[in-house]
Amino acid sequence: MSRRKKKRLDPFEVEITRLGKGGAGEGTAPDGKPVRVRPGPPGARLRVVPMARKKGTWIGRRLARIRPAADGVEPSCAAFGVCGGCTLQELSLSAQRRHKAVAALADIEEAFGGPLPDGVVVHEIRGTEAAFGTRNKVELSFGSRRFLREADHRAGAPIEGRWLGFHAPGRFDRVADTERCWLIGEGANALLTTLRRTVLVEDDQPLWDARAHTGVWRHALLREGKRTGELLVALFTTSQADPASIERVADALLATPLPEGQRLVGVQHVLNDGVADVARGDLARTWGQDTLAEDLLGVRFDLSRESFFQTSTEGAEVLYRTVGEAVGEARETLLDLYCGTGSIGLVLADRARRILGVEEVEAAVADARKNAERAGVEAKYVASKLEDALDVLEGLDDVVAVVDPPRVGLHPKVAKRLAAFSCDTLVYVACKPGSLGRDAAILCEGGWTLTDLWPVDLFPQTGHCEVVGRFVRR
Ligand SMILES: C[S@@+](CC[C@H](N)C(=O)[O-])C[C@H]1O[C@@H](n2cnc3c(N)ncnc32)[C@H](O)[C@@H]1O
Repeated sequence: MSRRKKKRLDPFEVEITRLGKGGAGEGTAPDGKPVRVRPGPPGARLRVVPMARKKGTWIGRRLARIRPAADGVEPSCAAFGVCGGCTLQELSLSAQRRHKAVAALADIEEAFGGPLPDGVVVHEIRGTEAAFGTRNKVELSFGSRRFLREADHRAGAPIEGRWLGFHAPGRFDRVADTERCWLIGEGANALLTTLRRTVLVEDDQPLWDARAHTGVWRHALLREGKRTGELLVALFTTSQADPASIERVADALLATPLPEGQRLVGVQHVLNDGVADVARGDLARTWGQDTLAEDLLGVRFDLSRESFFQTSTEGAEVLYRTVGEAVGEARETLLDLYCGTGSIGLVLADRARRILGVEEVEAAVADARKNAERAGVEAKYVASKLEDALDVLEGLDDVVAVVDPPRVGLHPKVAKRLAAFSCDTLVYVACKPGSLGRDAAILCEGGWTLTDLWPVDLFPQTGHCEVVGRFVRR
């Protein structure tokens, strides 16, 4: 049997014409097929080598930038192109937002099955004022192997060593060594500097080797209350860690000078002997507090290292204000579906006499109950998968529904039930615009009218774009 030879292409130059899925840049390869490359700022000309073809699209690896985009800027971060976290850093914030809004709308229409119905108002994209320093939580990995740029590799820079940073994209076993992260604030960066000195330089316990599953130091989690100035650090090691050396690192963290208004309220030591590369485990010891406080539009939240919370405080405020605009007037009940720790409902508590929330993670529901009690809000939370708790929608009157599902969007059973649900306004918060497009088609078939779409940029420098959609029953 003859095997068909896969067509290969030599490296080529390409004009990046648009922002595609997942924040990758897209253009056209010399054979006429689309090519996707990351980082790929629209407007730039790049030299790329095609690595693979998936569903007719080349996946290119960037070799060089031939020409920047007209509205381009030089990336601020030394780890740009290695870490994979901030792929849009070569564009000004306004250019990033322009391209994100176009890409989000294209994703919605593709999943909707064609152009949106007449009359849908697509609002201008909104987002954080700050271009950097917006993240309130990062998970960093310790590792004994790092990921290098090709040029650094050729120049003989070592791969083996003691490194700390984000996981390199697509490389479970390599760390993109990071001295300073532009996504977090000054206080968190000061703690990162202390961690690098005390663990990478002064300590001699081995770092995690993700191939051999050996080593001691595994992860560091930094959480920051942007509105309160409180910081929390969790250090994840295997149980072979020497307690005296962990104590030295914790002491050094607690002694780190921080910018005015910021303070480290707790350091935790967490044990993880599992093979899965996740920052989870059993608490061994705490210096100071186990939680930090954060405020969101005037509501106080206590966050433990594991609590789910929007990872950009300023971004969440912009998003929730937008949800409030979409919700409109006050009702008897606000349904907060996929409610996490209850933040949307609690921030919009003035829009209803009571909140009814559904969330599958029990720990998040426990947090939501505490948060509601502290805020003095009448709220009931059901811990269940929404598709198994659809009876909460029965017998309600004068209600507004807010859904904030995970990236996959609504479960088919939920979409079908909401399509038939009788209330006058439904607000859909989408972290993946395509999911909103697909579910909008089902809702519209059930008699809902999509009236407004608000793209919201919670995470500058990344390809991520949230979209809020308002549906009404005419
Ligand atoms: C995008 S988050 C939104 C959380 C919250 N609304 C907020 O703004 O912080 C989606 C939430 O849905 C929850 N979730 C995922 N699948 C679910 C399901 N099938 N039923 C109920 N909740 C689910 C997740 O645990 C997560 O808390």
